Amino acid sequence: SRKGSTLVRGVHEKQSMNKSRQRFWELAGSNLGDILGVEKTAEQLDADTAIVGDDGEVDFKEDAKFAQHLIKKREAVSDFAKSKTLSQQRQYLPIYSVRDELLQVVRENQVVVVVGETGSGKTTQLTQYLHEDGYTTNGIVGCTQPRRVAAMSVAKRVSEEMETELGDLVGYAIRFEDVTGPSTVIKYMTDGVLLRATLKDADLDKYRVVVMDEAHERSLNTDVLFGILKKVVAKRRDFKLIVTSATLNAEKFSLFFGSAPIFHIPGRTFPVQTLYTKSPCEDYAEAAVKQAMTIHITSAPGDILIFMTGQDEIEAACYALSERMEQLVSTTKQAVSKLLILPIYSQLPADLQAKIFQKAEDGARKCIIATNIAETSLTVDGIFYVIDTGYGKMKVYNPRMGMDALQVFPVSRAAADQRAGRAGRTGPGTCYRLYTETAHQNELLPSPVPEIQRTNLGNVVLLLKSLKVDSLLDFDFMDPPPQDNILNSMYQLWVLGALDNVGNLTDLGWKMVEFPLDPPLAKMLLIGEKLECLNEVLTIVSMLSVPSVFFRPKDRAEESDAAREKFFVPESDHLTLLNVYEQWKSNSYHWDIVRKAICSAYFHNAARLKGIGEYVNCRNGMPCHLHPSSAVYGLGYTPDYVVYHELILTTKEYMQCATSVEPEWLAEMGPMFFSVKDSDTSILEQKKKQKESKSAMEEQMENMKIDEVEKERRC
Ligand code: CDP
Ligand code: MG
Repeated sequence: SRKGSTLVRGVHEKQSMNKSRQRFWELAGSNLGDILGVEKTAEQLDADTAIVGDDGEVDFKEDAKFAQHLIKKREAVSDFAKSKTLSQQRQYLPIYSVRDELLQVVRENQVVVVVGETGSGKTTQLTQYLHEDGYTTNGIVGCTQPRRVAAMSVAKRVSEEMETELGDLVGYAIRFEDVTGPSTVIKYMTDGVLLRATLKDADLDKYRVVVMDEAHERSLNTDVLFGILKKVVAKRRDFKLIVTSATLNAEKFSLFFGSAPIFHIPGRTFPVQTLYTKSPCEDYAEAAVKQAMTIHITSAPGDILIFMTGQDEIEAACYALSERMEQLVSTTKQAVSKLLILPIYSQLPADLQAKIFQKAEDGARKCIIATNIAETSLTVDGIFYVIDTGYGKMKVYNPRMGMDALQVFPVSRAAADQRAGRAGRTGPGTCYRLYTETAHQNELLPSPVPEIQRTNLGNVVLLLKSLKVDSLLDFDFMDPPPQDNILNSMYQLWVLGALDNVGNLTDLGWKMVEFPLDPPLAKMLLIGEKLECLNEVLTIVSMLSVPSVFFRPKDRAEESDAAREKFFVPESDHLTLLNVYEQWKSNSYHWDIVRKAICSAYFHNAARLKGIGEYVNCRNGMPCHLHPSSAVYGLGYTPDYVVYHELILTTKEYMQCATSVEPEWLAEMGPMFFSVKDSDTSILEQKKKQKESKSAMEEQMENMKIDEVEKERRC
């Protein structure tokens, strides 16, 4: 803790990028270095370690003239999107200016690599152009995305542009959710979904064109698809493949598909000035907060985006930043404009995530503190300043230990450029890199290590085996995974009983392939069925397949822990998950309705809490008590309102069989007795209302009596 802040120190391995990188080699296994052609040994890298600079002060070689120029240019940029219709917006996209040439190249080639900056229109427009050019008359156009959110949101956007219902002409499919129909011709899906489609239809006969989007991300599934689609291309002359990519890697993709042409979409992003620190900074978290404050106080309007590594660091930075703002407001006499501080990371609940897209009130500046989620998957307009700490988290698999580790590593140069680019979407911007230019050039990898080389391959091996790829070591990978990883994954599958002694799929293995799950989870389900506890196991597997249901914000950690403890099952964290689900089901999704039904029958026997276990009847003020044996005590608190079956007098007036109810239900179910007190209306008015409803009821009952008399007379 420094200067009164509780900032988590963003210092990793003595602040040296080389050290962190060395840790990467250790975790990933030595052969990864060979694959990437890295010549330096860990010892050499260590010897290169830069000297740590002064007290975390960040000192940038700022060019005042350039800054002035940026501000002028920025003022000229209008808020385009809001003033134009969807079809006008489509025509404004960079890809629109090359539409016809692009379609020509696709007509003439079976495989095309399309390169363009973020926002040029690749994801939303390519599929529509192909549809307009007639490719959907016999077959559909599929477009793969590495992330579920992207598949869903892009499909929604395109269905709006084409003025069709989502799921009609345009649809999407992600694991466990298929929003397509018989008339769907443009289908967005995760790469995992297309990969599994090859299980049923190896030649992908349904598809006329597949667009492999965001291929530069090199997700595990995309990498496996490369090898599979290469075979489809060779087999089906009518099949077209389009691979889209950021500038990086395009050459590599082209070579993999036999020197396919590379089509460039001209860019239209704004220049971003990049500034480095003069010396390595001691604590990048501290430095990032300082830099954000400096920008806020001294620089022209425009939102700030800070890249950090994870939740803890982000929350600490948010806290430190708000503390500095408070200090500033209390110590300066002049008015300080507002700073809206917003965290974003994947575990943050969706409603809080959505906040980063909301407009700040007039005069306020947004400062978004994000993980690499904001690198490509989320795009926020209005960012003019990016602060890049130079680090990110990455999952790395160690085949020898059979363990995944989520570790902090320096970003690659490609990722750093992507981060910087986020400042140039709305107008010319600035990127502050909290590391030296030398470190950028010498210590960062040119591009990220593809997932296939740093992950557990259990799923992939199982899938490829079922596709009759017998020798995995011979599969056509763009970048083959380390042999250790393949062998270790095969060993794990053999242990689980999915592979036999010669490496073929067993009966169990064939069943396991059917599930889009990690092999151990698939096995748990299959055995759960055998042991006749499928329902319970299904819940546990589902809970393990989604992000954690527990949210633990730093400032409410104790409260969150206490809430979580209520669900603990001593034997097992797995059973605790089951317990959470069961309780959720009974409380908010099923039993509430039953309680409401009970309330509808017994609202005349409603009682309001007066003391512990002591109640009074809501209508006549009669005292009544919760029976000591009542289950309602088990809630841990006595509820404000209950209804009861009957009142029995023994030593006291005891309510027999009580159920807690919500006060609104009483008003809803028994409006003749109860109303929710409206603070806006006076007591007099409320009394008047009650009188009115009472007389209305009496009138109704009178009428009913008359009706009865009438009926009897007629008979
Ligand atoms: O794929 P690429 O990054 O080249 O661009 P895109 O995703 O097709 O986005 C083009 C434009 O469509 C963006 O700049 C947004 O203005 C708009 N868009 C949107 O409004 N909502 C989405 N879900 C996706 C794109
Ligand atoms: Mg895209």
